[in-house]
Amino acid sequence: MNIQVFEDKNELYSTVAEYYINYINQKPNAILGLATGTTPIPLYKNLIQAYKNGRVSFKDITTFNLDEYIGLPQTHKESYYSFMRHQLFNHIDINLNNTHIPSGILEPNEAIKVYQSQLSKHQIDVQLLGIGSNGHIGFNEPGTSFESTTQITQLAESTIKDNSRMFDSIEEVPTKSITMGIKDIMMANQIIVIATGLNKADAVLKMIEGPVNESLPASILQKHSNVLVFLDKEAASKLTK
Ligand code: PGA
Repeated sequence: MNIQVFEDKNELYSTVAEYYINYINQKPNAILGLATGTTPIPLYKNLIQAYKNGRVSFKDITTFNLDEYIGLPQTHKESYYSFMRHQLFNHIDINLNNTHIPSGILEPNEAIKVYQSQLSKHQIDVQLLGIGSNGHIGFNEPGTSFESTTQITQLAESTIKDNSRMFDSIEEVPTKSITMGIKDIMMANQIIVIATGLNKADAVLKMIEGPVNESLPASILQKHSNVLVFLDKEAASKLTK
C-alpha cells in the first residue's frame, strides 16, 4: 500500500483529483469504480470544476458504483442513484448509458444477476473506496467472505447509525443493500482509498496494520498490489508505523 497523509484536506482532495484528471487524459475510455457517501463529495466537486475548466472530459468514461440501498426508489434523495446524479453525473459530460449502479428496486436475485453480468464484461481500471467506521468496503460488512461477489447484505447496526445523519430519522435508513462483493473490488487494476476524520482512525489502523481478517473487510486491501491510500491526519492518527 502506498499511504499519503495530508495536513490539509483541500490538498488531499486536489491531489486525488489531479490523479484522476491525469489518468483520464491518458486513458479517456477508462473504466472507473465509484463510491458514494460523504468522503468522495469533495473529489467529485474538484472533478466537476476541472471539467468546467476544460481540463478533462468524461464522454468516453464508463463507471460502476459499489452499492445501493435495497428498497429506496431511485427518486429518493438518499438513493445512490440520486446521489451520483446530483454529486457528479448531472454536472459532467458522461454518457449516462455508460454508468452502472446496482438496482435497489429490482427483485434482489435479478438485480444481482444483472449487475454481476455487467461487471463481468468490464475490467475496472481504478476503484475508488471510502471505508466504514467498522472497516466495511462497499456495503460488505464485517464477517463478509473475501470470496464474495455481488450480493445482498444486511447493514450493520453501526452503518445504520453512521448513515442515519442523511435521513430524517434512523427508522428511515434501509437495513439492506446490494453491493459489489469483495472479490469484485479486488479485481480492479488499482484501488484508491480515501479516509478522513477521527471516526475512521480505528478502521484505518486495522486496514493498514491489522491482520488480514474477514472481521475487518478493508484489511484484504493489504493483499492487492496497487493500492493508494489518502488520509487526513485525524484518520491517520492511530497508525504506529
Ligand atoms: P462515508 O462512508 O464516506 O459517508 O464516511 C464511507 C463508507 O461507508 O464506505
